[in-house]
Amino acid sequence: MTKYWIAPTEYNPQHEAIVEAAAMLRQGEQVGFPTETVYGLGADARNTAAVEGIFAAKGRPSDNPLIVHIADMGMLEELVVQVDPVSRKLAEAFWPGPLTLILPLRPGVLSPRVTAGLDTVGVRMPDHPVALSLITAAACPVAAPSANRSGRPSPTLAEHVREDLGGRIAGLLDGGPTGVGLESTVAMAGSDGRVHVLRPGGISPAELALAAGCAVVVAAADAGHPPQPGAAPGADAPQPAGAAEFRPRAPGMKYTHYAPQGELTVVGDGHAEPARVAERINQLLHEAHAAGQRTGVLVPAEHAAYYRGAADLVIPCGSLADPAATGRELFAALRRFDEAGVTRIYAEAYPADGIGLAVMNRLLKAAGNRILDV
Ligand code: TXA
Ligand code: MG
Repeated sequence: MTKYWIAPTEYNPQHEAIVEAAAMLRQGEQVGFPTETVYGLGADARNTAAVEGIFAAKGRPSDNPLIVHIADMGMLEELVVQVDPVSRKLAEAFWPGPLTLILPLRPGVLSPRVTAGLDTVGVRMPDHPVALSLITAAACPVAAPSANRSGRPSPTLAEHVREDLGGRIAGLLDGGPTGVGLESTVAMAGSDGRVHVLRPGGISPAELALAAGCAVVVAAADAGHPPQPGAAPGADAPQPAGAAEFRPRAPGMKYTHYAPQGELTVVGDGHAEPARVAERINQLLHEAHAAGQRTGVLVPAEHAAYYRGAADLVIPCGSLADPAATGRELFAALRRFDEAGVTRIYAEAYPADGIGLAVMNRLLKAAGNRILDV
């Protein structure tokens, strides 16, 4: 049985639901909770059995490190050896908020299962009253990946968490829909004087550059397009400023993520003539129907009319005029195709600027990098 609470709408570590959920965390149990990005599945990051419970509930490979969530800067100083000046600027600019910083881990303070044995840790302070209340009430660093079964789209509603993990976790705080809808930007201030984006998210490279006052590079495998053959990911990986050694980049990025059950293909490059993209997708829909497939289309609202009547399910996902809405709606849209039993999905590529970089990153992962040019 999973205990379910309606969470308070304001910061309140004394709220009854928060106090109960925090007590579960301190007892080594796993609790789902909202953040401003996606729902997280939390556990006490110091407790190895508790952290192992996260991997078990999600069915997640255990060499994929977890992000540690904090509620104040005092918690940060306890977790890391040092905070280099660039990381400090980024934390000051964006915390609380959808940014995870990779920093040198202070030995012995966390279960080694959290970091998968790395000597760095990903830390973030979420900008959500329920998450901050829960971490404060639990008074421990909270390890929390997205609260979905491994490989499924991340949850942006408590209902998604219940679908995936109901009965497998101790508790679930329902705080309504999340804000950004895509997981945090994962970034690291490198010893090469540049900020490396290991996973694009709600904070764009341009925003990072402005706050950090230095160059920002996006890891090739994550730049919103498929990795180039021959480009060894991580070959030019810098040391995080202040750490003795650095191994993989964002190790989680090698796994299949977000994949709907139907086969998803991305069409175009986000800048092609809309009528040509529509013509190509309509032709693909025609072929898929002839092959007995149940079809779906995912497009910005402005283009939905191109496909009405041509696909079994057309989901307008955000709009070109409001790219943030695309981020908010993407994961729920992917789940809807599954519910409708769609076996072939075609998505128009979105422009990969600002939040669009993260949208395209998730869309291409969901598509297993299946992309067709027009
Ligand atoms: O928005 C988010 O970040 C959500 C919410 C719940 O906070 N959490 C989340 O966690 O997406 P998760 O565990 O699904 O993603 C963690 C990502 C993975 O890509 C992982 O490889 C990377 O962060 N990561 C964690 N620790 C790392 C480290 N020490 N070095 C490099 N990458 C790391
Ligand atoms: Mg995840």
